[in-house]
Amino acid sequence: MNSSREYLEALVRKYVNDAMINERIGNLTDAAKNYKKAAEVLFMIINNYKNDPMIHIYKNLAEGYLKKAEELEKEAKLSVSVGGNNQGKEESEEDLVQDFVIVEKPPVKFEDVIGLEEAKQAIIEAIVYPSKRPDLFPLGWPRNILLYGPPGCGKTLLAAAVANEIDGIFMQIDAATLLSKWFGEAEKRVATIFRYAKKVSVSKPVIIFIDEVDSLLGVYEHELGAEARVRNQFLKELDGLSDKGKNYFVYVIAATNKPWKLDIGFIRRFHKRIYIPPPNKDARKALLEYYTKNFKLAPDVDLDKLAELTEGYSASDIRDIVIEAYLRTVRELFKSNRINETPRPVTMNDFLEVLKRKKPSISKEMLKLYEEWTRNFGAGGS
Ligand SMILES: Nc1ncnc2c1ncn2[C@@H]1O[C@H](COP(=O)(O)OP(=O)(O)OP(=O)(O)O)[C@@H](O)[C@H]1O
Ligand SMILES: [Mg+2]
Repeated sequence: MNSSREYLEALVRKYVNDAMINERIGNLTDAAKNYKKAAEVLFMIINNYKNDPMIHIYKNLAEGYLKKAEELEKEAKLSVSVGGNNQGKEESEEDLVQDFVIVEKPPVKFEDVIGLEEAKQAIIEAIVYPSKRPDLFPLGWPRNILLYGPPGCGKTLLAAAVANEIDGIFMQIDAATLLSKWFGEAEKRVATIFRYAKKVSVSKPVIIFIDEVDSLLGVYEHELGAEARVRNQFLKELDGLSDKGKNYFVYVIAATNKPWKLDIGFIRRFHKRIYIPPPNKDARKALLEYYTKNFKLAPDVDLDKLAELTEGYSASDIRDIVIEAYLRTVRELFKSNRINETPRPVTMNDFLEVLKRKKPSISKEMLKLYEEWTRNFGAGGS
């Protein structure tokens, strides 16, 4: 029985390997196929070993592979359709919008975003309160919010959580799609997005989320014209949201880890600029608690001490460290052929071993850049 499982696991590795190779050489369709196969085999394992402690990790992996496959398929389609496909047929506004925004709400809640209390509060004040009691804000409220800060600390996560915090419509603009698929026409699409958002905001607040906004609005060096037009259209639309006398419940949340790539015209329109910092010690401890809650810890594990040792690690680093530490115990089972047993509790030593090899992804120099930018452009009153 174990040998069949081993065979299946080897198969997963082979598919993933092939997928990565194909992706690297630009064979996106085949890469997607291989990721799907890997997920399929993982699901097979999951179904056959339902009580195995490894299962939830396998589920995560399988879902990750499926998502990856989907992204690759989308990208593959894009590279085929670039340059063609404008047969003058009128599509409806809804259809157009469906094409370049993701309207599904991601399943994240505020409580899944650890730390970042100030950022959460600022967002609640800027979005949640005015959308519930607009009459209390006769002078208006900040509609455009920029989240900036080092990678892996929760910008995307937080924006996703906001969408669930209010009963509203979430439209995530896919910057890459916008620029590549409708090259030369992107500014028209931008106008469509905002027109649509304003229209539907009559019934429910709308959040337009632009992740990695620097890739859409930051380019200056090799300006070809298209980017400049898109940016100008954006600025125009942003201004249009705060037209006097109109109360559109349309909020724009933009996120970036390279705020210095944004130009001043854009920055000025984001009255609220919220720094998403790396986790401090308390937040690191909370992250460690949050991510270890699904498995057993040995009594010698000192999360306080680990929080101290992880200065400079991003929230995403900390999540990875926890997963790695847990995997050490699972790996032991596999190596000793005790696959149906429960893994031993994770010990302090597991964490320390992982830490030895994993370097923090946020350096002091990097932080300086954010601090400097914050001094020049940060905070932004309301
Ligand atoms: N504050 C947090 N609380 C809990 N988990 C977090 C937090 N920040 C990041 N993570 C974990 O790390 C992953 C990556 O974080 P996220 O995508 O939000 O980072 P980001 O700030 O958008 O980074 P980037 O600048 O690279 O886009 C999240 O999906 C989540 O698993
Ligand atoms: Mg992000």
